[in-house]
Amino acid sequence: MAVIGILLAIAIAYLVHCAYERWQHYQIGKKIGVPHDPPGFFLGSFTQVSAYVQKYGVERMPFFHLEQFKKHGENFIIFNAAILAQINTRNLEVIRNVFIKQFSKFVDREDVHPFFGNFPMGESLLQVGKTGPHDYGWKAIRSVASPAFTTGKMKQMFPVIHERCLKLISVLKEKATSGVVFDIYDEFQALTLDVIGRTAFGTNADSLSDRNDHFYTASRKYVGSMDYRESFAIKIGFIFPSIFPFIVAFDKLYWIQRGLINDLRKVLSYRKQHADEARKVDLIQLMLKEDEERQIRENKPAMREDTIISNCFGFLIAGYETTSTALAYTSWLLAQHPEVQSTLHNEIVEAFDAEDEVDYDTAMKLPYLNTVYKESLRLKPPVVTFCARTALEDVTIGDLHIPRGVSVSAPVHCIHWDEKHWPDPFKFDPTRFTDGKQHDPLTWIPFGIGPRMCAGMRFAEMELKLTLVELIRKYEILPDPSNTDSDLKSTLSTVLLRPVDGVKVVLKNRS
Ligand code: HEM
Repeated sequence: MAVIGILLAIAIAYLVHCAYERWQHYQIGKKIGVPHDPPGFFLGSFTQVSAYVQKYGVERMPFFHLEQFKKHGENFIIFNAAILAQINTRNLEVIRNVFIKQFSKFVDREDVHPFFGNFPMGESLLQVGKTGPHDYGWKAIRSVASPAFTTGKMKQMFPVIHERCLKLISVLKEKATSGVVFDIYDEFQALTLDVIGRTAFGTNADSLSDRNDHFYTASRKYVGSMDYRESFAIKIGFIFPSIFPFIVAFDKLYWIQRGLINDLRKVLSYRKQHADEARKVDLIQLMLKEDEERQIRENKPAMREDTIISNCFGFLIAGYETTSTALAYTSWLLAQHPEVQSTLHNEIVEAFDAEDEVDYDTAMKLPYLNTVYKESLRLKPPVVTFCARTALEDVTIGDLHIPRGVSVSAPVHCIHWDEKHWPDPFKFDPTRFTDGKQHDPLTWIPFGIGPRMCAGMRFAEMELKLTLVELIRKYEILPDPSNTDSDLKSTLSTVLLRPVDGVKVVLKNRS
């Protein structure tokens, strides 16, 4: 009886603490003077978001932020339950200051859910703060990871990615011959998982041929469970972050993650023991090599195995759904715009004869392909609500006061869909990017902004352009004849803008 009484008292004290913490956050929101909807008492802005989804459906989710801007002006606040207030802005001067000019005061991302803040994600480049554990903060990790993504390294990894693109093309042959309607998003997910499996996890993933591939099934389960609708631990962690460490081991997500970590540990140990034999050019090996050089140069201890594992996880999360979603949207847009697809096809056949092998330099420099790539990422940016930084000290920009601990987010889609920068913003028009046309670089930000922008941008660009060249060269993408919707149903899932029901198309062999 006494034990129950003590537990009850602890639970009540904890609830009172949480309520007080939220009340404090809301007071900071009021003090800043940035407009916002009144937050729900315990769930903050989740209350508004859920009401919005109930009223308009998940497909309207991508417009939630846009409508908040329309209602409140260039800045508004969101309260993510237990996390401190977040200012959302589409004021380019505020963005320039936070993400570029005053970056040293805004190095950290927003305060995150404990799932993403702990091992393995917490030490990855995606989440690590200015000061990280064991002498490896954001700058140190970025300086070890960045050299793996130079143009030179991309050329070295090109054959691995190209081989997978050709595999995709051969897998699609049967679909093109039968003319069946199929979900091309699913095929792109297999492609990008194979690529990340082979370049960041040291596996020989072949999910394009076999959907029972071990890495494919484990990674899909892992990424799929990383959602509050799928994981009870993530759901509870949103509301009561301190309870999360005590419940996580009861969630399937934790066990799937452990399996992937163990596989990666085996790969790392093999690489260390067989340094010569394992001289592969992939992200793991490039990071290990760069770290060795850094140890000598700066007289630092070696990066811990866990930090390397964290970053491989970061590459999986950052590089799998993002790139497949971008490919899926681009394919859908090309199917909807046959004139654009035909111009692109002409450019590709002029650059490569039927028997020519596609090479990195030519593919990367095709001018019309570049405009299609940019316009697709403008209209359908896959990562929309991840571009945020937390103030490490009090900062004032113009008349906006940002207290220490408050984060500033630049919702990518709201900037890309702002008619001030892009007239008729929902029209797909690659000529917006033809040579000589100027735009403020802050108005095209699918890969983020400033020193902390996407580390894998070149990797993604190579994978996207190469896949499109091989695909359009061989097949014509046609829309699903039974679908007459003018736009593809999309929603926001964690930080991604993504299709709700896949991307159904038909392929036709080009003679
Ligand atoms: C179309 C594909 C991709 C898109 C749209 C995308 C977009 C983004 C965005 C918006 C950010 C946040 C940037 C910021 O806060 O300013 C980011 C960060 C990051 N991305 Fe990507 N990404 C893509 C593919 C990739 C790939 C393929 C990799 C690696 C293989 C990768 C690795 C990373 C990493 C490591 C970060 C964190 C960088 C840091 O905090 O220093 N991304 N990405």
